[in-house]
Amino acid sequence: MEAPVTPRRVRIFNTIEDLARNAAELFIAEAEAAIASHGRFYIALSGGSTPGPLYSTLATDKYRSRTDWERIHFFWADERCVPKDHPDSNFRLASDLLLAKLTVPDCNVHRIPGEMTADLAAIAYERDLSRCFPSLSLPRFDLIFLGVGADGHTASIFPCGKAANDFSRTVIPVYAEKLDSHRVTLTMPVLNNARTVVFLVTGKTKADIVRNILVKNNPCCPAARINPTMGKAIWLLDREAAYLLTERDIQ
Ligand code: 6PG
Repeated sequence: MEAPVTPRRVRIFNTIEDLARNAAELFIAEAEAAIASHGRFYIALSGGSTPGPLYSTLATDKYRSRTDWERIHFFWADERCVPKDHPDSNFRLASDLLLAKLTVPDCNVHRIPGEMTADLAAIAYERDLSRCFPSLSLPRFDLIFLGVGADGHTASIFPCGKAANDFSRTVIPVYAEKLDSHRVTLTMPVLNNARTVVFLVTGKTKADIVRNILVKNNPCCPAARINPTMGKAIWLLDREAAYLLTERDIQ
């Protein structure tokens, strides 16, 4: 069942640094609320390169001191099937820029085992999620960061791919033919079960797809179908990614 289109919150920033600071403030606020509410903060990190400045910002003294990192559980929205030290690994980016600078217990880092085959990695990650969300049929993340590809994909849910309509599982293997990339991804129901989803989108190459999603609400774009049923979606854009939007588009 498609989630009703709830009003998305769109924020536009002059620089990537301003966007990263706002994303870090959102992280801290959501962590504070989750820890106060249920003692832990479950977050799924986006893949791709856009989150890099966010991770570096969170690793600064200003932000490192503002939350209880030992109560935070890190997951990923998706992963490429590569070793964890591979340049393409989504885990490696977060590990190098953020986790390596924090005191997060190893048991709080729920890496997708990209060194396995996609099928086996999906089963392993699905089991980990079941252990972490034992009383829920669907994992409910407090916060999920997501990116958007120029084709409208998000996580590793690609347009016209089987993942776009697989509501039977929480985690599935994907072969991204255009990228010749085997991957593992959270599925649409899990993404739409989050309390808060924050999209981080920067650069002129994303302007067309941003308009296609936020103005045309094109259902062929998996990212346009992310509207949490019991939560909210926030879009953080830099000026370049937002340049095809008008004031009216982002009311
Ligand atoms: C991945 C992703 C993917 C990514 C977008 C944007 O593993 O590639 O999760 O959905 O977020 O492709 O990637 P960039 O941030 O590199 O533009």
